[in-house]
Amino acid sequence: MSAIKPFYFDLTDPEIETFLDQAREILKSGSLILGAHTRAFEAAFARYVGTQYAVSVNSGSSGLEILLRLKHAENTTVLTPTNTNFATVASILRVNAEVQYLDMDKTTFAPSLAMVKDAVEGKAYPKPLSGLLWVHIGGVISPEFPQVVDYCRQRGLFVLEDTAHAHGSQLGGVQAGNLGDGASFSFFPTKVMTTFEGGMITLNDPEEDVIARSLRNQGKRGMNFGGLHTDFGNSTRMTEIHALLGEIQLQKLPQMLARRQRAYELITAPLKSAGIEFVSTEHMDQASQYKLIVLLPEGKTPEGVKAALAEAEIILGGTVYEIPCHQQPVFAGVCEGQSFPGAETWCPRHICPPLTSGMTEEEAQRVGAALVKVLS
Ligand SMILES: Cc1ncc(COP(=O)(O)O)c(C=O)c1O
Repeated sequence: MSAIKPFYFDLTDPEIETFLDQAREILKSGSLILGAHTRAFEAAFARYVGTQYAVSVNSGSSGLEILLRLKHAENTTVLTPTNTNFATVASILRVNAEVQYLDMDKTTFAPSLAMVKDAVEGKAYPKPLSGLLWVHIGGVISPEFPQVVDYCRQRGLFVLEDTAHAHGSQLGGVQAGNLGDGASFSFFPTKVMTTFEGGMITLNDPEEDVIARSLRNQGKRGMNFGGLHTDFGNSTRMTEIHALLGEIQLQKLPQMLARRQRAYELITAPLKSAGIEFVSTEHMDQASQYKLIVLLPEGKTPEGVKAALAEAEIILGGTVYEIPCHQQPVFAGVCEGQSFPGAETWCPRHICPPLTSGMTEEEAQRVGAALVKVLS
């Protein structure tokens, strides 16, 4: 019996050969950034998500910051869930905006529509509210998200999607990344698809496309390789080598998603029968299945469950997230004195079992059975 690990880098030997052959061509060509592979990866990604434009960057974090700059969020207040990655909140602070956290609902691990309404209508902010930076936690798109978007748009608030977990997630026939006013994907190694490090912005506005390309390239617009800086940009381009890996990974994304979906079904079937709660994706057309979020029954701790699963050679990976951002030392002072009971209850009371595109059916069944044993 071999150990079941939480991460899997999905690249076959023939794909490695293709990568190495084409990487050699890139090295010989001397075209190392903003070349043919970057353009091809961006075009293919936009086609996949269904947006007009896709702009590659060096990380999901860089993409978030660029999106907020496109929306002129500086000196405004931006709503965002407290249950998210450091990067989401940091991007808002980096553009010199204020953060107002939203709590989460345990059925989606995201805020509810009612929580958004409360934050918009029930509070006054010293800096005016400009919009919402939403996160599809674990790749789960809340069934209320389309209503959240309509509600915010009616009030002139932007809705940005942090799609770091949501490659291929789809609700009501629309892909994550095309549900709001701009999105940022991450290709960090643990994500559903990877470029080692990297990110992709998706959007539909032609002017924003031009500015996003400038913001990732030191603020230079168009094919300007000279010294004219129009925007307050940064060096956050993707390299040709990273884009090449992205092209290879994107081609096989539908297969990887299908394998993750199969693993999700095999793991969750026994959980359903045993009455063990988990965040469901059944309302979606397709889910990235980045993380399966399993709620712990009263009296069970993540540490205890982790140790019991380790005995069965099942290794747990990261959660989403065990410490909400309002409790992170680095963000002390943000929303000080406010409490977010949903996140405070459920962040420390869930686990994410291994779920990868490399799992065999037998391994997924082993995970499901072990969870029932440990959590019942
Ligand atoms: C929700 C969320 N947003 C943003 C990021 C940042 O992505 P990156 O690591 O590519 O900067 C992450 C990544 O790890 C994430 O999980």
